[in-house]
Amino acid sequence: MALLAPAEFESAARARLPADVWDFIAGGSGAESTLAANLAQFGDYALRPRVLVDVAGCDPSLTLLGSELRAPIGVAPMAYHRLVDPEGEVATARATGRTGTLLIAGIFASRTLEEISAAAEGPLWLQLYWLRRRDVLAGLVERAEAAGYRALVLTVDAPRIGRRLRDLRNGFAVPADVRAVNLDPELMRASHHGDAGASGIETHAREQFDPSLTWADLAWLRERSRLPLVLKGILTAEDARLAVEHGADAVVVSNHGGRQLDGALPSLAALPEVVDAVPPEFPVLFDGGVRSGADVAVALALGARAVLVGRPVLWGLAVGGEDGAAQVLDQLSSELTHTMALLGRPRLRGLDRGALSERAGRY
Ligand code: FNR
Repeated sequence: MALLAPAEFESAARARLPADVWDFIAGGSGAESTLAANLAQFGDYALRPRVLVDVAGCDPSLTLLGSELRAPIGVAPMAYHRLVDPEGEVATARATGRTGTLLIAGIFASRTLEEISAAAEGPLWLQLYWLRRRDVLAGLVERAEAAGYRALVLTVDAPRIGRRLRDLRNGFAVPADVRAVNLDPELMRASHHGDAGASGIETHAREQFDPSLTWADLAWLRERSRLPLVLKGILTAEDARLAVEHGADAVVVSNHGGRQLDGALPSLAALPEVVDAVPPEFPVLFDGGVRSGADVAVALALGARAVLVGRPVLWGLAVGGEDGAAQVLDQLSSELTHTMALLGRPRLRGLDRGALSERAGRY
């Protein structure tokens, strides 16, 4: 049966993947309450369509930090795409190239930065975690610049890894043939066999991530690169203001898809306060629970400049490799265009809070 919308890829992907890999992708931390709330929060909004507006030239394209996109949609950074497809991030890069969307490759990519950039026809950014080994971090930044990556995305919500009970129960460790090939194998050893009582991912993060990182350290990264710096994992107005003060070029409102602080506010609930705390032209990106073009429209109407999509892209990749990921991204973009037309907002700039009604369960 044809899969006609991103959400329809979920069960097809689940049927194809080993149970522990499925759990690693689908799961969140703790009781998974933030994971559930991310999705549920979209139900609090209804769209307010305006009619008799000329929508013949509906256009969702934009330029974001110098990257030209056919739609305000990107692939959120996710570790190890080879868990679901043998080509991994190379397939994802081809899919984003085909669909005019953005790829943010993860520091735990399972293909080299250079292989990914060779396959990418569209814009490519690199996500980093702050490693204790700053020399390794500096080396990655240098390679990213040389390979044509156009922005650095520092994930700031992970001084340690959230307790993901599914991974603990499954004793999840990354399979031996899937590797974070951009990092030294010695640094990655723990990902493949965790300590007692911890998943491989958790043990690895405890050994390698620097939990003492503060705002003052960002200057070190800024000095090493002229690329725009995006901070991912901002959920409050206070931190949004600090991000601006410390020279960030954009932020991503995100709770890491419910995989870090369980009980944290749903991403969509955090979006308005972050948007209101930063200067009007400062780009605020959003991720968490986006499953349709209508969801994209809601996030944009609340002030996001673009959205990132996580799990649905891995579903597409698991179901159909490059073609599957491209289908998911294409469906999201065309659903967005469709939504903009039926909403009577043919331009991204016209998508504002007036396009939403806070339904708060009233309908
Ligand atoms: C992630 N995410 C993530 N984020 C990050 O900054 N670095 C990373 O390495 C990863 N790895 C990762 C793996 C997997 C399997 C998932 C599902 C997620 C979080 C990701 O970037 C994003 O914030 C969320 O996935 C967005 O939520 P949705 O779209 O999955 O609901």
